Amino acid sequence: MTSIPLAVEMRGVTKVFPGVVANDSVDLNIHAGEIHALLGENGAGKSTLMNILAGLYQPDGGEVWLHGEPAVIRSPSDAIRLGVGMVHQHFKLVQPQTVAENVILGLKEPAFRLDMKRTAREISALGEQYKLTVDPNAYIWQLSVGEQQRVEILKMLYRNADILILDEPTAVLTPQESEELGLTLRRMIEEPAIRGRGGNKAVIFISHKLDEVTRFADRVTVLRGGKVEATLDTPGVSKAELASLMVGRSVIFQIEKPPYVEGVTEETRQEVLFAVHDLHALNDKGLPALDGVTLDIHAGEILGIAGVAGNGQRELAETITGLRNVTSGQVLVRSGGHGGKLVDATNHSPHQIIEDGLSHVPGDRLGIGLVGNLAISDNIILKEYRQAPLSRGPFLNRTSIGLFAERLVKAFHVATPNVERPVRLLSGGNLQKVILAREITASSGLLVAVHPTRGLDVGATESVQRSLLDERAKGAGILLVSEDLDELLSICDRIAVMFEGKVMGILPAENANRNELGLMMAGENVDE
Ligand SMILES: Nc1ncnc2c1ncn2[C@@H]1O[C@H](COP(=O)(O)OP(=O)(O)O)[C@@H](O)[C@H]1O
Ligand SMILES: [Mg+2]
Repeated sequence: MTSIPLAVEMRGVTKVFPGVVANDSVDLNIHAGEIHALLGENGAGKSTLMNILAGLYQPDGGEVWLHGEPAVIRSPSDAIRLGVGMVHQHFKLVQPQTVAENVILGLKEPAFRLDMKRTAREISALGEQYKLTVDPNAYIWQLSVGEQQRVEILKMLYRNADILILDEPTAVLTPQESEELGLTLRRMIEEPAIRGRGGNKAVIFISHKLDEVTRFADRVTVLRGGKVEATLDTPGVSKAELASLMVGRSVIFQIEKPPYVEGVTEETRQEVLFAVHDLHALNDKGLPALDGVTLDIHAGEILGIAGVAGNGQRELAETITGLRNVTSGQVLVRSGGHGGKLVDATNHSPHQIIEDGLSHVPGDRLGIGLVGNLAISDNIILKEYRQAPLSRGPFLNRTSIGLFAERLVKAFHVATPNVERPVRLLSGGNLQKVILAREITASSGLLVAVHPTRGLDVGATESVQRSLLDERAKGAGILLVSEDLDELLSICDRIAVMFEGKVMGILPAENANRNELGLMMAGENVDE
């Protein structure tokens, strides 16, 4: 039907931040009745573009048309009036209020006049229609992250959104919850839009996961460096094609995992390099975060930790590396690595843990991982500088440091003109490689890695994963916390699933499947 205008048309939209063109003359067409994915690496400009559509940012150039008419969107309330609703990456719900109170928050009607019973009924009906089940009278703090996301979506539907934007919605969901979300989005686009001339509602979802883009979307627009690379129909486009559009060169997907015992003898494989026993710890709010976690990490293995964010993974990594207090239970570390003595390292300082030979690739790269203003070479030696030949007495040997750093930069494929560049000028992938280089080199084969590939492009991801597998082949024991199930399945030997501070089970990676892992991530017991 040619009479139905485009739901959204962005024409030559440009947005400049100091030092970066976040969106560079972007053309984007969204049809009524479609699910449209916006795909791109971290920093490609996806959120910025959608924040413009949702009225949070004003473009520096270009135009936005809605339903065939020019639209002026100066604020989020303009956007909502025009039927554009956005669910942000970080939810904006008020924790001490109920679902219903959050849904009506900010609506123009005088709150004291509102009939909360009626509102609750309307929310239930909407929930039923879209299969977004959530109790309207529950408090936000009582809800899981997945349920909170449903509230955000309901909030937009309650405001009669015709164009729903979701920014990386599946990052906080289990695989099953992601599938359900996909179905909900399908239901949405089958509903007629209130505005426009006879079209259906439209959904735009931002993602950097190729898998769900090809599964959920009707069409996809790929952004790279603020520019549109292509808009394609998803049936008929391959993941390899999308990946190369996303990163600008072709990408190899399969990563070879050598068999478990290669490079490691049967004897070393028995050796526990570090372990936690019945570990308990509190989170930043003083609530229980770890509830009796027991794990062994052996020589020559990568033990993966799967789980939806916020189920104790971060606290686990922090207690092992001395950054968080253990309230009860034990952390054991084989001091000096292979052949050393297994010592009780419970509540050791981070410094002592490093001395014991355990290294840490933290999830927060610039926070505790690196010193932004220091040169790459200085960051690389942050841990090593006490040892000859990098220092002699109290003096640092600049030549040796430079050579050492150059060797590591080469070995870990860090893209930089030289090792004297401050690390803050490196891209995310290269930052992560610098941390890996440092931590792996400084360790005695004991490593805790938290989200080492999060936000990296496909190429950098592959080289980080390869480094981890290389260390494993040399007999290292690695605890890998990741939210990426494909990563866990492809490089781990065993996968432990955490839910509400407990280990729900540990599966050999070769026998594990996404479905089973997903159920465990949602707290269901799966028979071992
Ligand atoms: N508020 C801001 N101020 C300055 N720079 C920003 C701001 N928001 C985004 N950027 C920059 O704009 C670029 C695109 O960012 P963003 O739209 O968040 O990308 P994506 O969502 O694709 O990861 C990045 O280089 C980012 O650092
Ligand atoms: Mg973003």
